[in-house]
Amino acid sequence: MFRWLSGATGSPGWPATLGPLGTSAGAVTLRPVKIRDARTWSELRIRNQNSLLPWEPTGVGSWAERHQPSSWPPLFAVLKSEAKRGTILPFVIELDGRYVGQLTVGNVQRGAVRTAWIGYWVDEVHSGKGIATAAVALGVDHCFGPVGLHRLDATVQPANEASQKVLKHIGFRQEGLLVRYMDVNKRWRDHLLFALTAEEVVGSAVEALVRSGRATFV
Ligand code: ACO
Repeated sequence: MFRWLSGATGSPGWPATLGPLGTSAGAVTLRPVKIRDARTWSELRIRNQNSLLPWEPTGVGSWAERHQPSSWPPLFAVLKSEAKRGTILPFVIELDGRYVGQLTVGNVQRGAVRTAWIGYWVDEVHSGKGIATAAVALGVDHCFGPVGLHRLDATVQPANEASQKVLKHIGFRQEGLLVRYMDVNKRWRDHLLFALTAEEVVGSAVEALVRSGRATFV
């Protein structure tokens, strides 16, 4: 019983499909990544290069090379294997059933800390319509529920105002500044550390978002 609490391997809460949750753009759901996401993943990532590049870890090779459809199967294989081990939860964000972004919970640690980080991106065509906020609310409730975590971290560059708004809408607190924390776009960048613990979520993140008028039950 509760073998994940003792630090053993396993994947509580995975695989899972979460939602739907209504936004001004449509219904948001989270579902596991699939091998057949290659073409859509590639098209979205290449089309969104300008909006994603300033915030994402530096990679090897050009953006276009790294996001060819042929780059997806090896990446998918790592995500699938880590998800099976219980260290990552790699979701696609769908809007009315269409792939519009991704939400990932990573570096899941069990034992006494029961913590992970959360990260996300959304196709800029749909920006500002509450999609990321809805996706994070669904992810938070899942992590503090079936996954059994107690704390979520999110690291954001100070200039990334949209992402900070998403986190604040859900109730994440700013805890500090991580100096030269991550190699992003070929430079070591400072990041703000945001965090949320289970005690800070009153009822559920989804219910709180609906109460605030930023999402609707569908
Ligand atoms: N400056 C300030 N505010 C902005 C900007 C901007 N340039 N652009 C959007 N916003 C606001 C929106 O109006 C909205 O605020 P509101 O709800 O008060 O009206 C808020 O920021 C965004 O909320 P959502 O609509 O829920 O978010 P969206 O679906 O647009 O996705 C996201 C936001 C994920 C940051 C998207 O812009 C994106 O993918 N950006 C590139 C990748 C990225 O930065 N990912 C996050 C990295 S940090 C992390 O993962 C923890």
